[in-house]
Amino acid sequence: MYRFIKPIFFQFDPENVHHFVVKRLKWFNDFFPFGKTILRSTFDVNIKGLEREVFGIKFRNPVGLAAGFDKNGEYVEALSNLGFGFIEVGTVTPMPQPGNEKPRMFRLQEDEALINRMGFNNKGVDTCAERLRILKKKDPTIVIGGNIGKNKLTPNEEAVNDYIKCFDRLFDVVDYFVVNVSSPNTPGLRELQEKEPLTHLLKTLQDRNSKNGISRPILLKIAPDLTDDQLNDIVDIVKSTHIAGVIATNTTIDRDGLYTPAKLSQETGGLSGKPLTKRSTEVIRYLSKKSAGAFPIIGVGGIHSPEDAKEKLAAGASLVQLYTGFIYEGPGVIKRICKGLL
Ligand code: FNR
Repeated sequence: MYRFIKPIFFQFDPENVHHFVVKRLKWFNDFFPFGKTILRSTFDVNIKGLEREVFGIKFRNPVGLAAGFDKNGEYVEALSNLGFGFIEVGTVTPMPQPGNEKPRMFRLQEDEALINRMGFNNKGVDTCAERLRILKKKDPTIVIGGNIGKNKLTPNEEAVNDYIKCFDRLFDVVDYFVVNVSSPNTPGLRELQEKEPLTHLLKTLQDRNSKNGISRPILLKIAPDLTDDQLNDIVDIVKSTHIAGVIATNTTIDRDGLYTPAKLSQETGGLSGKPLTKRSTEVIRYLSKKSAGAFPIIGVGGIHSPEDAKEKLAAGASLVQLYTGFIYEGPGVIKRICKGLL
C-alpha cells in the first residue's frame, strides 16, 4: 500500500509530511478502536528466533529506529507497534531549542537519500523524560535508547555539563544512552570527537554511571567521515573508558557520486540513505576488526532492505537501525528485514 501513498507524500515538504504522519499514527494507536491491535497484527514482527541480548539488554528483534525520527519521545509506543525491536529517542538537549531555519530537510529521490540540517530541534530533556516516565509505567518492555547532545549556545568547553544534565534526567526512563558528538548540524559539535575532549566526556559520564548502583550502557555515535587514524582513536577511547559500544554511523557531509542535481544535493547538512550504505558498513567492519570484536556495534546508514541489514551484521554489527530506509520503503520494511534475517 505504501507504494501508492508514497508518491502523494513525496509531493509535500518532508518535514511537514513527517509531522502529519506521526501525529496520525499516534492518534490511530491511542484512540482508534483496536488501533494498537490493528497495527500489531499488520506490522509487528512476532517471529521467534530474532531475540538478541546485547550489552545486557534483551531485544525482541535486532532492527531499531535510529535517532532523529522521534526527537521528543512522543511516538514510542506507536512506532514500537510497527515492529521495531527498539526505539532511540532524541537527540535531546538540556534546554528546548528550535533548530535551524526551515526548510531544513530535503529528499534526494534519485539517490534514495535525505539531507537534513535540523540542528537538534527538540522540546528539551525534561519534556522527553516526563513522556518516557509515563510510557515506561504503562509498558516497561519497550527498549528505549536516549540519544543526548548539547545545546547550540553551549560552548564546547562546557558541553560536558549539558551531557550530564541529559544523562541524569533520562537515567530512570531509558535502557541505554547514546552520546551524540557526530551531528554535522551543530556548529563545532564534531570537534568533541577528538581524543582528549571525547575521553573526558565519556569518562565523566561513565564515572557517574557506575556511581548509581545500577548502570546504563553508554554508546558513542560516530560520523562516517572519520579517518582511519581517528577510528583507531575511537577504539582506544571505547576500551579505555569502558563504555558499552559504538553506533556507526551518523549522516555524512560527503557528496560524492550523487545522481541528484547539484542544486539539491549541495544543500548543507548531513546526507543519509543509500549513498551512505557502503561507507557506514566500511566503518563497522574497520572498528570490528581493529577492536577484535571487543565491543558491540549498532550498524546504521543506508539500510533499505534485508540484504543491507545482513551486510551490516556480517561486517560486525550486533544490531541495526534505520531512518531513511523507513521513509523510502515504508513500515513494511521492518518485517521484511526481520524475515530476511531469519
Ligand atoms: C537524523 N539522524 C540523527 N542522529 C542523531 O544521532 N541525532 C539526531 O537528532 C538525528 N536527527 C536526524 C534527522 C533526520 C531528518 C535524519 C534523516 C537523520 C541520523 C540518523 O539517526 C542516522 O544515523 C542516519 O540518518 C543514517 O541512517 P539512515 O537514515 O541512512 O538509515
